[in-house]
Amino acid sequence: MPEHTVVHEAQNVVAREPPHHFFKSQPRPGHVKDAEQYMKMYKQSIEDPSGFFGPMAREHLHWDRPFTQVRAGSLQHGDSAWFLNGELNASYNCVDRHAFANPSKPALICEADDESENRVITFGELLRQVSEVAGVLKSWGVKKGDTVAVYLPMIAEAVVAMLAVARLGAIHSVIFAGFSAGSLKERVVDAGCKVVITCDEGRRGGKTVHTKKIVDEGLAGVDLVSKILVYQRTGSAGIPMKPGRDYWWHEESAKHGGYLPPTPVNSEDPLFLLYTSGSTGSPKGVVHTTAGYLLGAALTTKYVFDIHPEDVLFTAGDVGWITGHTYALYGPLALGTASIIFESTPAYPDYGRYWRIIERHKATHFYVAPTAMRLIKRVGEAEIAKYDTSSLRVLGSVGEPISPDLWEWYHEKVGNKNCVICDTMWQTESGSHLIAPLAGAVNTKPGSATVPFFGINACLIDPVSGEELKGNDVEGVLAVKDSWPSMARSVWNNHSRYIETYLKPYPGYYFTGDGAGRDHDGYYWIRGRVDDVVNVSGHRLSTAEIEAALVEHDGVSESAVVGITDELTGQAVIAFVSLKDGYLQDNASAGDVAHITPDNLRRELILQVRGEIGPFASPKSVVVVNDLPKTRSGKIMRRVLRKVASNEADQLGDMSTLANADCVPSIISAVETQFLAQKKK
Ligand code: WTA
Repeated sequence: MPEHTVVHEAQNVVAREPPHHFFKSQPRPGHVKDAEQYMKMYKQSIEDPSGFFGPMAREHLHWDRPFTQVRAGSLQHGDSAWFLNGELNASYNCVDRHAFANPSKPALICEADDESENRVITFGELLRQVSEVAGVLKSWGVKKGDTVAVYLPMIAEAVVAMLAVARLGAIHSVIFAGFSAGSLKERVVDAGCKVVITCDEGRRGGKTVHTKKIVDEGLAGVDLVSKILVYQRTGSAGIPMKPGRDYWWHEESAKHGGYLPPTPVNSEDPLFLLYTSGSTGSPKGVVHTTAGYLLGAALTTKYVFDIHPEDVLFTAGDVGWITGHTYALYGPLALGTASIIFESTPAYPDYGRYWRIIERHKATHFYVAPTAMRLIKRVGEAEIAKYDTSSLRVLGSVGEPISPDLWEWYHEKVGNKNCVICDTMWQTESGSHLIAPLAGAVNTKPGSATVPFFGINACLIDPVSGEELKGNDVEGVLAVKDSWPSMARSVWNNHSRYIETYLKPYPGYYFTGDGAGRDHDGYYWIRGRVDDVVNVSGHRLSTAEIEAALVEHDGVSESAVVGITDELTGQAVIAFVSLKDGYLQDNASAGDVAHITPDNLRRELILQVRGEIGPFASPKSVVVVNDLPKTRSGKIMRRVLRKVASNEADQLGDMSTLANADCVPSIISAVETQFLAQKKK
């Protein structure tokens, strides 16, 4: 049965109540007790956002100067703003206030790649470390409004670095440590970062990642960067340090005292940039502001996950992506809740790793992308029962659709039917959850992200007419009708691109880029992206960026990249390339130096993408074809390629607009021999 049929059938299920024990087993009630209370609060948040979010902002955040107006601006003009004239500091909110109240409380529970190196950092200790690193940055001249790049693996120091930057009122731009040297450079240059924070090497799954080497390669000749702070993660000998530019974290921080006062910033001053992929062009530096973002992070963590101060949240995502920003750092720390920072992989040293972490630290919340669960289900399921995971109350899912089957499996095998499953739909741009059930209060349905969070005026739009679809049992594209506190405010250095991408497609609405349905109960079902963004293992990839990486290769004339459904990774990237005339023949006769066969060319092209973007963007397969299918106006028809790669060549549909329909049979046979036949092996 095709996947969409399964999902549509699943929509007919009756919403499930939370497990019987959810609240009974707790020493205290949930923050929101039932669906009725959710509805009442939701209604107020939409009808009177100022009356709802004003008190929420005063209750959850510490203000150095109170705001005088809750919100202003409009989606039409792209000038939304929240908590006007207020001043605050994110680092103070996430560290100082908890350190003063409870210095010995764990803030970061660090699970190192090698379990013998685990450590716990208390709020008191975190304050000292953040102050020291902020002291170093300050002595280098970093000040309010400057951008600082952070290129670190998922270790506590990434959190320390981000908070140190925020402490000075500067703007962090975290670059996922899986990005290649070229991608790092592109992001550092676009954001104008003069300072980069990194480490000597990373450790992941027992392997060494040569982090500093990648930084050196990426920043060679980039004069913009005047200082690099290098955390000694492995302490390997022979890490080259460029005099006058590169400094050791431990040596520099030792020179600075234990407390550096935070710099208050305006509510609307940027807290961070995070680059994300869109359907066209280079990656966009999504801009999040201080107050609105922080409030969105705190409120969703508290209400969606029903987090209480004594809880332990295990967000298994990397701080290089938005999930790590919001739910490993800002959400839990703003609430003073401990966060588990996991450096390794679910498979290292064995498939028991997640469950040991949960047992060891009595994690109450586990938050992960479905792709990790698909892997465990396939190869590591037997490990779960070996550990005591009874501390868990909430199991979150993020980044890609979770199928009803996998939802049930997660509920039964990981949650022992005693946990609430929170399927949370959101984006880098939304800053925090858009659609998600409030744990324990909102009934769930396997496969549905359920209902909008407070302040999210969610709606569906008919993509053809551009009209909003009223009522239930409708399908369209997911949009939001008003701004919400943690909505991205801009694209760095390119506000018009922000407007074009998110606000222009449907004037008056924020456009998510996702298709969705709303069922008879008003529950949302996310269908996936409607643009050229592919979601592989919960990583958001732009087909345009991968295509650009492929055409960098001398042999490639044109490329087209499509996403197809994949059992393990959700979607997989299949790349089609046509070669420059005579490329293979010329090289085949050019002697042993450049002896290129179609097979090793395909391998080379995969390496090309790994090198240009990063290993996580590797195509599953590269198919070399003679020609790509194009319309008369020269547009590549990716739909045809997607169907062929999905082994659905019998459902190609209308091809009358193709200018070169005669190339299709040879594409079908190229896919058969170069991809499908290999898959069967
Ligand atoms: C997809 C990740 C279905 C969606 C937090 C969105 C989801 C994109 C879900 C954003 C979910 C995220 N169900 N799809 N629960 N969560 N997505 O910016 O297509 O890396 O637009 O943020 O992931 O990816 P991003």
